[in-house]
This record gives sequence, C-alpha cells and structure tokens, in this order.
Amino acid sequence: MESLTELANHFGSDKGTVPPGPGFRGNDYTSIYEAYLEGYRDRAFSLVEIGLGVKGDRWEAKIVQGRNTGGASVKMWRNYFPRAHIYGLDVNECAYLDDERTRTFVADQGNVEDLAAFVEAVPSFDVVVDDGSHRPDHQQISLDFLFPHLSPGGLYFIEDLFDNGLGDGRTGRTASDRVLNTRSVLKHYLATGTFPEPHALANVESWQDEIASIDFHVEDKLCAIRKH
Ligand SMILES: C[S@@+](CC[C@H](N)C(=O)[O-])C[C@H]1O[C@@H](n2cnc3c(N)ncnc32)[C@H](O)[C@@H]1O
Repeated sequence: MESLTELANHFGSDKGTVPPGPGFRGNDYTSIYEAYLEGYRDRAFSLVEIGLGVKGDRWEAKIVQGRNTGGASVKMWRNYFPRAHIYGLDVNECAYLDDERTRTFVADQGNVEDLAAFVEAVPSFDVVVDDGSHRPDHQQISLDFLFPHLSPGGLYFIEDLFDNGLGDGRTGRTASDRVLNTRSVLKHYLATGTFPEPHALANVESWQDEIASIDFHVEDKLCAIRKH
C-alpha cells in the first residue's frame, strides 16, 4: 500500500514532498496527516476537504499543471482511505470528481449560506481539511460553522497558516485585514483561554468548550484542532 506522501506526489498535490510545478513547494503535510490519520485507514468515516485544486472561473488554480490534472488531494484521500466518504467544497465546479464515495459541492467557504447548504446535505463528519482560499476570515468563518458538526473525537486541520491578517501588511487574494491571522488567534486562545479581536469566529463561545487540543506543525503552517 502506498503512503499518503507517495499518493500526494503521484497525483501532484502540494501536500507531499515533490512540488506539483514551478511556484509551488512540497509542504510535507502528508507525514503529519499520516501520524494523525493512520488509524482511520480501514475505517468507514467521512472526510471533508475545502479547496480541491480545480480549474474554474472563480479562482485561478495554478496548482493544476503537469501531473496535477485537477483534484489531486481528493484522489489522494480516496486512494489512501478505501472505505471513506470524501466530501469536497470548492468555489469552482468539479462534479467530474464525483463517484460512489466522493461528492463535491460548489461552495464559498467564506459564505455561511453555502456552508449551511453543505451541512444540510452532510450534517456530520469526522475530519475536516481546510486548504481553500487561506484567507484568515474565510478560515475562521469555516471553522466556526463546521466545528460544531464534527463528530466527537474528530479532527479539524487548517493548512497554510500565514501572517496574512490585520497588522501583518500582506495583500492579495490570500490576505484579509478584517481579522487577525488565524495562527495568532488560535495561539492566543491556547495561551489565555480567550480569542483576541477582531476574529470571525462569530459563535465560538457556543463551541469552544468542545476543543480538546490545538497543535501546530511544519513551522506552524498547519494546525490540528481535536474535538472532545
Ligand atoms: C491550493 S488549491 C487546493 C489544493 C488541493 N487541496 C491539493 O492539495 O491538491 C486551493 C483551492 O481552493 C479553492 N478556493 C479558493 N477560494 C475558495 C473559497 N472561498 N471557498 C472554497 N474554495 C476556495 C480554489 O478554487 C482552489 O481549487
């Protein structure tokens, strides 16, 4: 059986160790995911990924190049977890990835109406991986909305935590000055038990007691939030 890293490299996701092409790096998130998720390998469980790396009008997905023909991480997850159900959210339509264990939804992770439509179809899940816009407001809106739908003991991962929020001086499609960057919001919570403003965790008081742990990996670019 291939490792998650081998599958990421094969399909051209930047979660592995070989970059999909120029302008990308191999982030080696897969060794972290394997450590957390090895025990899920033969389980029938549900994994949600936000941001699938697919071409479309609403986001220029530069990652789709070379051996990456679109949806690399969906292909990686469904090969690694032969009994899992994979749900994918993306602003770009990609129903061509759907099969008997895979279902994609057109959804903007920063739009609660889109997220509500998703949880109406899929009310609960075991693992979430946020690899979407990487904007801190979007990351926080999605976490706030989806964490309550995570099953007990579930895991919520957020990739590519950057200095891209208020006060960080970063601009572009992966930045927002509406809120503090997600890494600093979560680290402040770990240190103090409170979430610093401004953030976009509108309902966090109703679910923060369900946080069992928050851990950072790969130079603090990836976090794993476990639910009690
Ligand atoms: C870095 S790519 C994902 C790569 C993929 N997960 C992989 O490992 O191969 C980011 C994806 O997020 C999608 N995206 C961008 N903004 C989004 C948003 N607001 N909501 C949902 N998806 C978004 C883009 O269309 C793109 O397909």
